[in-house]
Amino acid sequence: MISKPPGIEDIYPDAIPRWNRVVDAARSVFGLYNYRELIIPVMEYTELFARGLGDESDIVSKEMFTFEDRGGRSLTLRPEGTASVVRAYVENGDYHRLSTAKFFYIGPMFRAERPQRGRLRQFNQFGAELFGSGDPFYDYEIMAMGDAITKSVKIAPYTLKLNSIGCPECRAPFIAALKAYFLSKKDELCQDCQRRIEKNPLRILDCKNESCVRLKMVAPLIGNYLCDRCRAHHETVKGYCTAGGIAFQEDQYLVRGLDYYTRTTFEFVSSALGGQNAFAGGGRYDNLVTEFGGKPTPAVGFAAGIERMVLLLPEAGDDATGIDFYVVHSGGGTLAAAVSLASRLRALGRSVEIEPDAGGFKSQMKKANRERAARALIIGEEEASSGSVTVKEMAGGTQETVPLERFLASLQDLR
Ligand code: HAM
Repeated sequence: MISKPPGIEDIYPDAIPRWNRVVDAARSVFGLYNYRELIIPVMEYTELFARGLGDESDIVSKEMFTFEDRGGRSLTLRPEGTASVVRAYVENGDYHRLSTAKFFYIGPMFRAERPQRGRLRQFNQFGAELFGSGDPFYDYEIMAMGDAITKSVKIAPYTLKLNSIGCPECRAPFIAALKAYFLSKKDELCQDCQRRIEKNPLRILDCKNESCVRLKMVAPLIGNYLCDRCRAHHETVKGYCTAGGIAFQEDQYLVRGLDYYTRTTFEFVSSALGGQNAFAGGGRYDNLVTEFGGKPTPAVGFAAGIERMVLLLPEAGDDATGIDFYVVHSGGGTLAAAVSLASRLRALGRSVEIEPDAGGFKSQMKKANRERAARALIIGEEEASSGSVTVKEMAGGTQETVPLERFLASLQDLR
């Protein structure tokens, strides 16, 4: 047998009700906030991600599934959605027409990470991106949607961590101070972080290595370097969160793994996930649209990992969904009457299972049970010749034979 590659999973039918609980909640909340769905391609030219996410990010430097197409151009399976949404926004010329544009997307992403619980190589995200306003109100709106979706699927407890990493101007002196500090402690850093000192010292704050974590606790803090405008922006974001009833925790080490962020960064975390504790994250990225050739357009967004949210769902009894009817027949001439009944029921919007050679009465009733049918509808010789049907309640076991047309007419009264 050929098995699936590591870190790649089937989402089997039994898991679908929990899956849909998350996706349906996301769709509904995005609708409430007037975000429009778009479907972005699963693969893009590699340079889109290299330029957008940063060459030094873990994703670009070691986690992308990249290959050449037949014409020798480098393609990459999308590791995230933001770069593609920005590209689509610029390429479709939307920014000429709209003041703000609001999008959401749902679909698989690909990262060649070391697989473990909640960390996959093919995983699914839903995300939202807003273009055209630098107003801190929208940083709040994006977080409010993440918060509303989390609450709507009853994930609890969780924490929204919030930070500002400033703009390129105020970040420069902070990064210089960070570099100087980590250079003085170079020997105590892990191999990866020693390399990061020159290329991307901010990423050291994200390292989970024990001695790097210890060092970062006394490292310079971005909060002390924010310029007046970034500080005011951050304070206003927090004010909106408080006004909107969204609890948050400030975390000055929250830098995120992607290079495009400016000012606000945030993550929704749950300790129930263990090491990979973030189930959603995002932030503001005011310079990415120009990076991709658009006119200066501030933007903010977030994405959530569907698998991680599904792991966090409370157990609920509503997952066992069955069908409305299982049609039992005794073969021969009764099959035609049974097929006709099944077809009329489906046309009326009821779910039905029927099998051509399902065996005897007993074995069909067993199958009705297995399919969690609410009712079995029995069409035997007698029912077929008299134009009636025997309706059996699977839960209570009671049954009644009624004229077929009367049964169909009374359908709307059946739960
Ligand atoms: P991200 O933090 O890289 O952000 O991913 C968002 C979420 O995707 C994570 O919080 C996590 O739940 C899920 N995720 C990431 N990697 C994996 C994995 N290997 N296995 C399972 N789940 C995973 C972004 O992707 C940004 N594009 C978010 C954003 C949108 N920022 C602005 N707009």
